[in-house]
Amino acid sequence: MKKFDFTFDEQVCRVTIGEGALRTAGKVISRCQRGGAALVVSDSNVAPLYAEVVVESLREAGLEVRLAVVPAGESSKSREQLTVLYDELAEMRLGRDGFLVAVGGGVVSDLTGFAAATWLRGVDFVICPTSLEAAVDASIGGKTGVNHPAGKNLIGAFHQPTDVVMDPACLHTLTPRDIRAGLAESLKHALIADAAFVSWHETHREALLACQPRTMGELVARNVAIKAGVVAQDVRERSGVRARLNFGHTIGHAIEASCGYGLRHGECVALGMLAGARISRALGLLREDECIRVEALLQSFELPTRCEGLSSYGTLASYIAGDKKVAGSRVRWVLLSGIGATVIRDNVEDQIVRQAVESLR
Ligand SMILES: NC(=O)c1ccc[n+]([C@@H]2O[C@H](COP(=O)([O-])OP(=O)(O)OC[C@H]3O[C@@H](n4cnc5c(N)ncnc54)[C@H](O)[C@@H]3O)[C@@H](O)[C@H]2O)c1
Ligand SMILES: [Zn+2]
Repeated sequence: MKKFDFTFDEQVCRVTIGEGALRTAGKVISRCQRGGAALVVSDSNVAPLYAEVVVESLREAGLEVRLAVVPAGESSKSREQLTVLYDELAEMRLGRDGFLVAVGGGVVSDLTGFAAATWLRGVDFVICPTSLEAAVDASIGGKTGVNHPAGKNLIGAFHQPTDVVMDPACLHTLTPRDIRAGLAESLKHALIADAAFVSWHETHREALLACQPRTMGELVARNVAIKAGVVAQDVRERSGVRARLNFGHTIGHAIEASCGYGLRHGECVALGMLAGARISRALGLLREDECIRVEALLQSFELPTRCEGLSSYGTLASYIAGDKKVAGSRVRWVLLSGIGATVIRDNVEDQIVRQAVESLR
């Protein structure tokens, strides 16, 4: 079992990664020793697979435990499901000594984290990520929230989990496509921060695509370390350091919002990263061979490098302009200044962006 402690604004988050970790949740989550109550939250896909194990382990540790199951899917990151959780917490009379445990993907962890951030002005919460997206990204950083009909993640809070408990064997029940989409986020972390980790992906390609638990465990641990390292420098997203994590996401989100129906978030991010690499190349920040390496990397993980139904540039540009990474009236582009290094530019000419986006067609 791998264990790491990260500190964000003086709050410690303990990460435990290992096969069988969920079965030992009641032992590894340190606050379980104090007793009390816990609300475990999962979704309709994940609950039958992994939530019972966690519930059992917490009960064995002497806690009073309830399980709340929300419908699987992004639509559960809603005020309605939040109300369902508050009602459950009220019925349990969950006090300050109680806590919440998310067992699932990023939808469940964002929703559960926000319920925890707001119940009694903030109680503890724990994340047991079961999707690759949640394991490598959503479980670290303390961003919690729900969607509003006017937009994604409009209602939220920063609230750090006290523990992240991850069993890489859980990833087996994901579809190969979900694995590849999650790997896109891992490639993003490697490309922005760690050239050696890019090579590691290249070397371990087969084990990663086959979701081999030991390799996945190492993958998650390295991602957690990279993301935690960035977040710790800018916990509340004020200094701009955390913006580096948005590499590939400005164009990725535009594709996702305008023509991404049927595309996974990670697949849109792959397209966004390729466009980002090409913008970096056009500005002379990245060499041609490095740009080609990014493309080959995405292809080797069977991620898209072209999008047939891409919207017109005008439509995509309007989404890009509306992106939350826009400072004032300028888009802040997270670009690559090499493999494993980023630079932020807010003066990229529209023509260069247009060419990079059109190259995805
Ligand atoms: N808080 C953050 O920093 C952060 C970062 C990235 C993404 N997110 C959020 O996370 C969400 C996306 O996360 P996601 O991709 O995990 O979505 P998700 O939670 O909807 O999970 C995707 C699907 O996989 C299923 N699933 C999860 N684990 C499984 C497993 N082990 N076996 C079989 N099926 C499984 C789920 O039931 C769901 O149907 C978005 O809402 C996004 O905004 C948050
Ligand atoms: Zn992402």
